[in-house]
Amino acid sequence: MQNNPLNIVILAAGKGTRMHSTRPKVLHEIGGQAILRHVVNCAKRLNPTKIVVVYGYGGELVQSAFQQDNIIWAAQKEQLGTGHAVQQALPHLDSMANTLILLGDVPLVSTAACKTLLAQADYQLIIQSFRKPDPTGYGRIVRDEHGKVHAIVEQKDATASQLAINEVNTGIMAMPTQYLSSWIQRLTNDNAQQEYYLTDIVEFAVADKIEVNAVIIDDEWSVTGINSKQDLAQIERIYQQRQAAELLKKGVTLFDAARIDIRGNLETANEVEIDVGCIFEGQVSLGEGVKVGAYCVIKDATIAAGTVIAPFTHIDQTTIGENSKIGPYARLRPGTTLANETHVGNFVELKNAQVNIGSKINHLSYVGDATIGKQVNIGAGTITCNYDGANKFRTVIEDNVFVGSNSQLVAPVVIGQGGTIAAGSTITKNTPAEALTLCRAREQKSIAGWKRPVKARKD
Ligand code: UD1
Ligand code: CA
Repeated sequence: MQNNPLNIVILAAGKGTRMHSTRPKVLHEIGGQAILRHVVNCAKRLNPTKIVVVYGYGGELVQSAFQQDNIIWAAQKEQLGTGHAVQQALPHLDSMANTLILLGDVPLVSTAACKTLLAQADYQLIIQSFRKPDPTGYGRIVRDEHGKVHAIVEQKDATASQLAINEVNTGIMAMPTQYLSSWIQRLTNDNAQQEYYLTDIVEFAVADKIEVNAVIIDDEWSVTGINSKQDLAQIERIYQQRQAAELLKKGVTLFDAARIDIRGNLETANEVEIDVGCIFEGQVSLGEGVKVGAYCVIKDATIAAGTVIAPFTHIDQTTIGENSKIGPYARLRPGTTLANETHVGNFVELKNAQVNIGSKINHLSYVGDATIGKQVNIGAGTITCNYDGANKFRTVIEDNVFVGSNSQLVAPVVIGQGGTIAAGSTITKNTPAEALTLCRAREQKSIAGWKRPVKARKD
């Protein structure tokens, strides 16, 4: 193929009946991203001048998931076959370009394999094929006695000897758009399925004496389409295995490579260790030497070097500095930032809290909408009362404050620098710096010989 600009057509009009879902098939997710997202990302890596997606069922939902992607949408109202689908894209294609056709339901499509197809300079129609021990359901690649590709015959139209061929069409193909356009116009639906088969263009090319080739690829998963929840689950595992393999290759220690799920993008520095059962979502970055304990769920977070996340911790939209200790059983909610050397312990919930260097919140606390200074110690069971049922207020705790256990800080309130709050206090007003503030029931008295109530005996 000449070195022309590239247009890519992604066929995605299939309904996906076997998914048993109202969601359009291509919006089901692999690794936390829509199936079609994987295909679009592959397409983008090939630097095309245009990406045209042929859509059908659930078009608005599909389009709204790709608003930022500069995609041209071509509607295929009735699914009359892959050739008919490409016909819908044709008016959008540049006649002087090459066209690459991809399938919207094949998420592990390989960029490298597409580049190999496009590099076949001696041919004008290049098919990607695959050897499948059980070729049932696929179009068979029919070669002549010299091994030249002669036709693609669909399962339902194949003769007994053609059915025995195990080289199958993956559905990916490339050709100069001028040829595609002339061949598409010649398609008929005179076949077993009464569909317009894209695959019939091979015979037209052969008739026109255009050089056709099929490039056999050997990675089955990169050509596997998703038609059912079984397929989705299987491809999800393959995808996760591949992500884990990439991490291992970079030197990340995975305590069990089969028990990690990455639903987005995980960036890692050197010497990172991840225990079993962790889920990473969105964009997560782990600095050098970060250790993540078992069964953590970490989403959209940046965790700096040397920090240890103990098991069963849940982190969402949070930034954590260096050499901090989080968990076990901590929950860090959106808007939280922790500076270096902070400690957050078990059953502590932080929301939109900014915690400065060296501060500790080690047990059973809720700290929301709060600014916490340096070297602060928040005692067990401390609660920032940030919500009056309608409005949210901030709590400010200045440097070197010590908050005694089981205190309530009723926002808006400022706890002055170096101050101490006595355990069990309910603080409703700002407190002065460097002082002890107590706010409890006034006296503690003891009644000697007091008897606990006893249950009446039933005789
Ligand atoms: C097609 C090929 C077959 C190949 C197989 C690989 C044809 C005639 N057959 O089979 O040789 O082995 O793919 O999976 O091309 N689509 C539309 N509109 C339609 C029909 C299909 O957009 O009218 C889309 C589907 O959403 C899917 C892709 O085209 O992404 C392939 O369709 P599918 O029905 O899965 O493949 P077959 O036609 O069975
Ligand atoms: Ca079909």
